Amino acid sequence: MALKITVIGTGYLGATHAAAMAELGFEVLGLDVVPEKIEMLKRGEVPMYEPGLEELLRKHVAGIEGSSGRLRFTMDWAEVGEFGDVHFVCVNTPQKHGEYACDMSYVDAAFESLAPHLHGPALVVGKSTVPVGSADRLAARLVELAPAGEDAELAWNPEFLREGFAVNDTLHPDRIVVGVRSERAEKLLREVYATPVTAGSPFVLTDFPTAELVKTSANSFLATKISFINAMAEVCEAADGDVVKLAEAIGHDERIGKKFLRAGIGFGGGCLPKDIRAFMARAGELGADQALTFLREIDSINMRQRGQMVELAREALGGGSFLGKRVAVLGAAFKPDSDDVRDSPALNVAGQIHLQGGQVTVYDPKGMANARRLFPTLAYADSAIEAVRGADVVLHLTEWREFRELDPAVLGEAVTTRLILDGRNALDPEVWRRAGWTYRAMGRPTA
Ligand code: UGA
Repeated sequence: MALKITVIGTGYLGATHAAAMAELGFEVLGLDVVPEKIEMLKRGEVPMYEPGLEELLRKHVAGIEGSSGRLRFTMDWAEVGEFGDVHFVCVNTPQKHGEYACDMSYVDAAFESLAPHLHGPALVVGKSTVPVGSADRLAARLVELAPAGEDAELAWNPEFLREGFAVNDTLHPDRIVVGVRSERAEKLLREVYATPVTAGSPFVLTDFPTAELVKTSANSFLATKISFINAMAEVCEAADGDVVKLAEAIGHDERIGKKFLRAGIGFGGGCLPKDIRAFMARAGELGADQALTFLREIDSINMRQRGQMVELAREALGGGSFLGKRVAVLGAAFKPDSDDVRDSPALNVAGQIHLQGGQVTVYDPKGMANARRLFPTLAYADSAIEAVRGADVVLHLTEWREFRELDPAVLGEAVTTRLILDGRNALDPEVWRRAGWTYRAMGRPTA
């Protein structure tokens, strides 16, 4: 009989994982502690913007016409404990307030709530990004709390999905990493992932600490790549070089690769910034802090980019104060194809200029509602053209396709000054310059 799967926590990770498991043919029960989320999901609606996810959900959520009916949602822990053979824990692990460490309270609460309902053999699979050593601790807690005792087993299976590509990354992962302690756990996870493994996804078997570390080290490497190219942008800026050409040229070396070498205002979001900080904090606890001190530099290069964008804007406006200057900001999400504004470099820059007296108007294709909630004092426009009306400078801060497809001639009619600063090195300088704009970007020559 096909395995029954539960998914605990229905954010980006959990909602996508639940839908993907149903797509793979399993019966799936999703749980969240937020009633509004569960109500939305039951109607086949997704609480965030993620391309393709709503379609996948609607294909499987029970009660929706024409659906497979394999996917249901609940808030009842007893039902989840009773239903599942395999339970995926997908709750978030944000940064603790006022410190670098990771806040494990949601993960801990999920285990405390689930375990007492495990009366028979069950595999609990952690997917959340956690400090190394957590799995070991949670495995012991599980055995302690579960009526099934040793039959309630843990595995660790980090997730590598990117927002904006979550569905594809989940259905066709570039690797599946599982930390297990028994053949039974391995066998169950091979069964869960049989389809992607048959399609070619590598299945990497590890112990607990390695599985946990794979995730944090992967994100640290990605953050390092971005900060590396941003450091090169600073040097290019000083030496009149062109960081975009430089990235292209070094990227031809396969050992370096072209991806994640886009210089600009740096990385944000709910993962990379908090993950490198939590990793440093954990290394400190383990007495290995020296190994990761370079991440402090990665973090500070990254945060510096935001300030440099503000300075680039100030300089482009003639230096001095932002008072009375109209600044249009294109982009609020931390990256395109997402409505996520957590630690968004774009909003950070917009906020800094606003606090210094600039009249900032923001437009983002999908991130407006979230941006308004986080920065209610900024002005918002309903379209790019409305945002730039009367602007003294336009800041391109999230590289949505919609912005690349803007007609500089049309925009030029709306602004006061044809001055655009590309914080993502994603627009074509020639196109903008031909239309009479002054185009500036970080790490690139002026004209
Ligand atoms: C990241 C990882 O890429 C995923 O593999 C991982 O699963 C996920 O975190 C997670 O831990 O859950 P995500 O946060 O969705 O995924 O975003 P990325 O695509 O990694 O982008 C992060 C930030 O880096 C964005 O702000 C983006 O604009 C910036 N970035 C990316 C650059 O500034 N330059 C680049 O060349 C690439």
